[in-house]
Amino acid sequence: MDVKEALYMNRGEGENSYAKNSKFTQKVASITKPIIENSVHSLFSKGFHPSKLLNVADLGCSAGPNTFSVMKTVKETVEKECKELNCQTPELQFYLNDLPGNDFNSLFKGLSGFCDQTQGASCYAVGVPGSFHGRLFPRNTLQCPLAFSGLTSNEGLPLNKGKIYISTTSPPVVREAYRTQFQEDFSMFLKSRSEEMVPDGCMVLILHGRQSADPLDKESCWVWELLAEAIADMISQGLVAEEKLDSFNVPYYAPSLEEVQHIVEEEGSFAIERLETFALEFLLDKEEKETKGEKLGKDIRSFTESMISYQFGEEILEKLFQKLTHMVVEDSAKESMNATSIIVVLSRISG
Ligand SMILES: C[S@@+](CC[C@H](N)C(=O)[O-])C[C@H]1O[C@@H](n2cnc3c(N)ncnc32)[C@H](O)[C@@H]1O
Repeated sequence: MDVKEALYMNRGEGENSYAKNSKFTQKVASITKPIIENSVHSLFSKGFHPSKLLNVADLGCSAGPNTFSVMKTVKETVEKECKELNCQTPELQFYLNDLPGNDFNSLFKGLSGFCDQTQGASCYAVGVPGSFHGRLFPRNTLQCPLAFSGLTSNEGLPLNKGKIYISTTSPPVVREAYRTQFQEDFSMFLKSRSEEMVPDGCMVLILHGRQSADPLDKESCWVWELLAEAIADMISQGLVAEEKLDSFNVPYYAPSLEEVQHIVEEEGSFAIERLETFALEFLLDKEEKETKGEKLGKDIRSFTESMISYQFGEEILEKLFQKLTHMVVEDSAKESMNATSIIVVLSRISG
């Protein structure tokens, strides 16, 4: 599977769109807002000259309410800092990056209100299609990259019969291949940003991760186990060929905090200013379990549908996601499931 082609969040504003089904990521973004504010504050306290242009990149921006709330947080914090320092606000250049299949059209439509130049700091926005595992920007231009993403891997893995992620039945080689791929991808990500960022520039990363040292921990595998089971059900109904499932592995990895720390230290371009995890229950609202399970089913559909459709065809989507939602409702009634985020604040080491 060519991830650059096959991976995008569901487009538009319809019932199954990412924009309408990203409540969980919105919650994560609201929890991490003070960290972005603090990082902007620390840029100013390190002597960033306020009258200059501030280049900010959102890596894996998607198209939805979160993209704008992150931009708004940066803009308001810059305005507040400048007011306190009694100096002119810089112009803000936002680089909005995602893979080429991202719904940049919806994103740009939503921007017209945000980039209204009549209030506060002037804001400009540019779309940057491409993978953040490689270079995206000219050398030495970025002061403040922000990434909120599950980092993807570039290739699928064979040998993982009946499963689509690391699972108890996966041979050790699968676990090792996922770990190695993440190590390569994340190192490339850091190396590319280190070339693009100015010395002392600040980067905030929010990644899906895991609390446990064990990659088989249910928390990081749960969604993918259920999805594999739902696909197996489609096979038993003769709707999908078995080989299609056996050759499909999701381009996703939930690292532990220690793995992230090790890779950052080994790559060597960044100092770790902050590194922590927090867990949130998958099902957020205070509604009936069934309604919550259905919402989670839609949420999962909004970020997996493009890959599923690429590998198994559009025809199975309705049946498959109905089955998945049913399983999510049943499973989440038995126990509540958490999802972990890892927050990393890095500053570019000078020299
Ligand atoms: C969990 S979504 C988060 C979207 C958005 N930042 C938010 O907070 O709602 C992850 C985003 O990262 C993007 N992404 C994944 N791998 C990428 C890569 N290698 N390069 C650029 N974007 C990527 C996905 O397409 C998706 O839009």
